[in-house]
Amino acid sequence: MKILGIESSCDETAAAVYDNNGLQSNIIASQAVHEQYGGVVPELASRAHHKTIWRTVRQALDEADIQLDAIDAVAVTQGPGLMGSLLVGLCFTKGLCLSRNIPLVGVNHMDAHIYANFIDNQPEYPFISLTVSGGHTQLVHVKAPFEHALLGQTRDDAAGEAFDKIGKILGLPYPAGPVIDERSQHGDTQFHDFPQAMLDNDFEFSFSGLKTSVMYYLQDQKDEEEFLSEHLNDICASVSYAITEVLIKKLRNAIEHTGVKTIVLAGGVSANSMLRKKARDLAAEEDCELYIPKLAYCTDNAAMIAITGYMMAQRKMFAGMNLKPFANLNA
Ligand code: KG4
Ligand code: ZN
Repeated sequence: MKILGIESSCDETAAAVYDNNGLQSNIIASQAVHEQYGGVVPELASRAHHKTIWRTVRQALDEADIQLDAIDAVAVTQGPGLMGSLLVGLCFTKGLCLSRNIPLVGVNHMDAHIYANFIDNQPEYPFISLTVSGGHTQLVHVKAPFEHALLGQTRDDAAGEAFDKIGKILGLPYPAGPVIDERSQHGDTQFHDFPQAMLDNDFEFSFSGLKTSVMYYLQDQKDEEEFLSEHLNDICASVSYAITEVLIKKLRNAIEHTGVKTIVLAGGVSANSMLRKKARDLAAEEDCELYIPKLAYCTDNAAMIAITGYMMAQRKMFAGMNLKPFANLNA
């Protein structure tokens, strides 16, 4: 079985081919147009997807050395994401499927982050996924393929959103997560004790207070600019420490509560080096198997859509041409 996967939920236009022998190609066209605005501008994202989607798909097919007619199903991100961006991917894919009579698969972007762990590995069910991205932070009990129970999620900002918003306060470019990660490696995690919210709740998260506390902390300094230039790495390290501590503490709660012995990390923030290290330590302490996707499969990509589409097609989870995009998980 050969699956073409297409991702366009936010600011990456991506296409990949996955077949019985594994991943055959994985192409990403990132949209540089948003950098100057310090965040993703939805209208510009839709236009950029529209411009590059066919070229990106063509490249994925060429690199996999496969003709469109040999594709057994096309998997596309159905949501969650930016409505305009999702629509470009969905309309393009429906056109492709209709014109060549190819079955369609609608993929949940958050599921795909989880199943990215199956590109290079075979985690055993049941497992707990800590899914941490720019838009979501969730603890998911995956009991069997596509049988998920949500244990808890963030009540406000997602972990990636916290990194990005705090980065903006610190004057760092968007997306700030990777920059804060890099700077943290040269800073002191104990320089300042930033708040770790909602530790009395087992599985829910709250990150919006952290950015406010960083803002007030900077305002309290005599000369904010000088303080920042001297201690930027220390603040990054202390912020990373606070975010990853909360994530790991809740992940520990999930393992202990469910008794599940396999953990996976998923989503853009699972690229974070401090989180990866703490997760490895946790797995060793709790005697769990841990899976973390390769860096290229942590942030948005189409390989994760293609493999999820492959797993869904195996289970005959096909969609009709009336497939609708959804912006939010609870839409
Ligand atoms: O999964 P993703 O690519 O997109 C969404 O589905 O949201 O996640 C993007 C998020 C951004 O907030 C970005 O700052 C964060 O992942 N991120 C990181 C790192 N790499 C990406 N956060 C912390 N450390 C990183 N190394
Ligand atoms: Zn994502």
